[in-house]
Formats: sequence, C-alpha cells, structure tokens
Amino acid sequence: MRGIVTIDGPSASGKSSVAKRVAEALGVPYLSSGLLYRAVAYLASRAGVEPGDEKGVLRLLKGLSLRLLPKAEGNRVVVEGPSGLEDLTPHLHTPEVDRVVSLVARHPGVRSWVNERLKEVPPPFVAEGRDMGTAVFPEAPHKFYLTARPEVRAKRRTAERPQDYQEVLRDLLRRDELDRGQSAPAPEAIVVDTSEMALEEVVARVLSHIRD
Ligand code: DC
Repeated sequence: MRGIVTIDGPSASGKSSVAKRVAEALGVPYLSSGLLYRAVAYLASRAGVEPGDEKGVLRLLKGLSLRLLPKAEGNRVVVEGPSGLEDLTPHLHTPEVDRVVSLVARHPGVRSWVNERLKEVPPPFVAEGRDMGTAVFPEAPHKFYLTARPEVRAKRRTAERPQDYQEVLRDLLRRDELDRGQSAPAPEAIVVDTSEMALEEVVARVLSHIRD
C-alpha cells in the first residue's frame, strides 16, 4: 500500500481504533488529526486563552513547538517546553477538552495549522478525523466514513469517561452539531455503519475494500 487511506466519522464512531488496526495490518503509521485539535484546545485552556479567540489561539501556537508523533501503539502529541519535551497525550481525552475542542477546531487558521502538520508526514499512512477525505487529502485512493447511532456511540464513550451515559450523550450530540460543518463524508467514501458491528468486522471490511 503506497497511498493514503482516510477514515472519517463522528466522535466515538470507532475511527481511531479502526485506523490503528488497519494501519497495523498494512504496516504503515496512522495519524489522528483529532489529537492535534485536542492538544490545541488543551494548551489554549491551560494558557487562559478563550477558545473562541482565534487570534489568541494562533498567537499561542506560533510560540510553541507542537508535534504529532504517529506511534503505532497510539499517537502522541508533545510540546517543547523549558525543561524538555512534555507529553500532552494523557490530558487530551477528558470531558473538559471534549467540551472546548469544537470551538477551537472551527477557526480556519487553526484548521490550516493542523492540516500543515499532517501534510508534513510522508505517505503511506492512514489518516483519521472529520475532513481527511474531503479537505486535507482529497487525492487519497481509499476513503472510508464510519458512523454509528448516537446511543451506541455514547455507550462506547461512557466506558472511557468519568461521566454517566446521559451526560456523555448530551455532550456528544452537542459536539456533532458544532462539528457538522467539517464532518460530511466525501462523495466517493465507503460509508460503514458500525452500530451492530464488532471492531474486527469493521477492520476486515475496510481491509477487504483496500485489497480489492
Ligand atoms: O476525533 P476526535 O473526537 O478526537 O476529535 C476531536 C475534535 O476535533 C472533534 O470534536 C472535532 C475536531 N476535529 C475536526 O474538526 N477535524 C478533524 N479532522 C478531526 C477532529
């Protein structure tokens, strides 16, 4: 596999786990674009920059050296600080970041910044997010869009967050709404509804399309 595989879809549709397994099977890295958006949101909150203040967020990014490490066992984001590299990854999947990330991700300047980081990576790779197959890698030969019913996605996410199901469902629906603008599938993407599928089945389906 020499090209790019894109896997897009809403939160908790299974795209990160699927991207990771598919990349592993193909022997290529995977890139989690959402993790970069999460890192920007986390750093803005930590610096006291309002998530809606695009100029403030961009100013912050300019002064930082932030890097996505596409590790096979799980992507990581690190930032260069005064005392060496700081690994931000353990802080990025929290309800606090879940709540502000969409507000940061809607800024065109932030989107360009994330896209530039992704385009620095030489193919082949599997890229997952919302707009990988549309805005970022429209030339990718293999495009997938994973989806699942909100109740199923909320159930999956509840297992990973210190919140109850109702709160997770509420946050997820709100984020779907905020992310709608950049979350449409590419017209040529293969859409897979994972609501009733096990992870292994989804991975097998994606791999069989790529190998065809
Ligand atoms: O996939 P995720 O839930 O980790 O993504 C976190 C947020 O980042 C999500 O709410 C929307 C945003 N995002 C985006 O706008 N575009 C992407 N390509 C990936 C994520």
